[in-house]
Amino acid sequence: MRLILLGAPGAGKGTQAEKIVERWHTAHISTGDILRENVKGGTELGKKAKGYMDSGKLVPDDLIVAMMEGRLKEPDCASGFILDGFPRTKGQAEALKELLGRMGLHLDGVVLLDVPDDVVVQRLCGRRCCRGCGKIYNVSFKPSSKGDHCEVCGGELFQRDDDKEAVIRQRLSVYHEQTAPLVEYYEAEGLLCRFDGTLAGDGIINAIAERFEGHE
Ligand code: AP5
Ligand code: ZN
Repeated sequence: MRLILLGAPGAGKGTQAEKIVERWHTAHISTGDILRENVKGGTELGKKAKGYMDSGKLVPDDLIVAMMEGRLKEPDCASGFILDGFPRTKGQAEALKELLGRMGLHLDGVVLLDVPDDVVVQRLCGRRCCRGCGKIYNVSFKPSSKGDHCEVCGGELFQRDDDKEAVIRQRLSVYHEQTAPLVEYYEAEGLLCRFDGTLAGDGIINAIAERFEGHE
């Protein structure tokens, strides 16, 4: 299975990716997670990316494409992958198409998670992430039964630096300007599948599974 998860910040890409990986055991590639690890580790890429991320802007395409080219060639991608947060510009989509063509691979589909902007702002203000395993929680919609620690690994829950209202609004406006045009792009490629990103519980993953059953 090779899927792209497309949607605004806070649409639930990371949340659905966790569920898809549980069902289909594919590699989960989140460009946001890779970038945050690089920032934390103080790498050259991390130093270049930090300013863009803190202000809610996109990291330049050349850095992202080089990073993804290496990642997609790693052995765990051989049996499939979920791309979470990539591509995010037309330039990245074209680079991905070219790269997959060279590797002789095709995409099964592009999952668009549709969520209104006001819901996104509410969700992101309440999001908490685990420092240990990365699991995603929400103080209103999905609290941890262990309070401010993770149910899975006991790690401390924290709020991302870019989950402040002003930065969230900037990320949303960048999404509408630079990433939303990919909806049309993938529609024209015949790959786009829309899902209602506001469904609760397993509603979204069940709809995705129904659509892509048999693609594993
Ligand atoms: P990234 O980490 O990719 O952030 P994002 O796209 O803004 O997406 P989020 O992680 O904020 O949201 P999500 O859709 O995964 O939602 P989640 O499942 O957590 O990118 C961060 C930054 O890195 C970018 O701003 C940019 O600078 C840089 N970057 C990354 N990729 C790049 C690229 N390709 N090119 C250039 N720059 C790049 O859910 C959100 C909350 O809602 C959670 O609390 C969750 O519990 C809750 N929730 C989820 N689903 C539901 C539901 N159905 N009902 C109720 N609550 C829900
Ligand atoms: Zn954890």
